[in-house]
Amino acid sequence: MIDDAVGRAKLQPRSEYCLGMTRLGDDRLIGFCRLGLTGVRAAKLGYAVAAEYWGHGYATDTVQTMLEFAFGLLGLHRVTAAIGPDNAASHTVVERRGFVREGVLRDHVFTNGAWRDSVLYSALSDEWTAQPRR
Ligand SMILES: CC(C)(COP(=O)(O)OP(=O)(O)OC[C@H]1O[C@@H](n2cnc3c(N)ncnc32)[C@H](O)[C@@H]1OP(=O)(O)O)[C@@H](O)C(=O)NCCC(=O)NCCS
Repeated sequence: MIDDAVGRAKLQPRSEYCLGMTRLGDDRLIGFCRLGLTGVRAAKLGYAVAAEYWGHGYATDTVQTMLEFAFGLLGLHRVTAAIGPDNAASHTVVERRGFVREGVLRDHVFTNGAWRDSVLYSALSDEWTAQPRR
């Protein structure tokens, strides 16, 4: 996965930015956060944390870092996240980081043998203000 991300980071024009999550003093990868560029000054956000590290604020912290990068250095206008309706932890992460719920994308993804809805969230540069870190 790291090799693929590094390979894609070398593409021109660049289509994504990927952050690896590690704990302080430990180089072991425990999760990632990906910003995939789409359209004009827009991107899709995705992330995951290894199950044994859930509930420590790692996703929340990484999403904050990625948004600061997206709206700051990259100058993006709109960042979206599409999240399964039952993924309560992920809803908590984006809502805590200032995303606004837009609505439901019907049959958005085909996973585990079935079409599944997603809830679409967005953060806009002119609305978003950095949230205090915990
Ligand atoms: C979603 C995911 C990234 C969250 O990672 P994490 O590092 O555990 O997230 P954080 O600790 O930053 O925040 C999660 C919050 O959700 C809360 N939460 C967890 N389960 C919950 C539930 N069932 N209902 C409501 N809140 C819940 C946690 O308590 C935490 O809030 P708190 O800090 O106030 O206690 C992780 O569960 C994951 O990798 N899941 C599988 C991949 C995935 O779903 N990725 C997102 C795709 S959109």
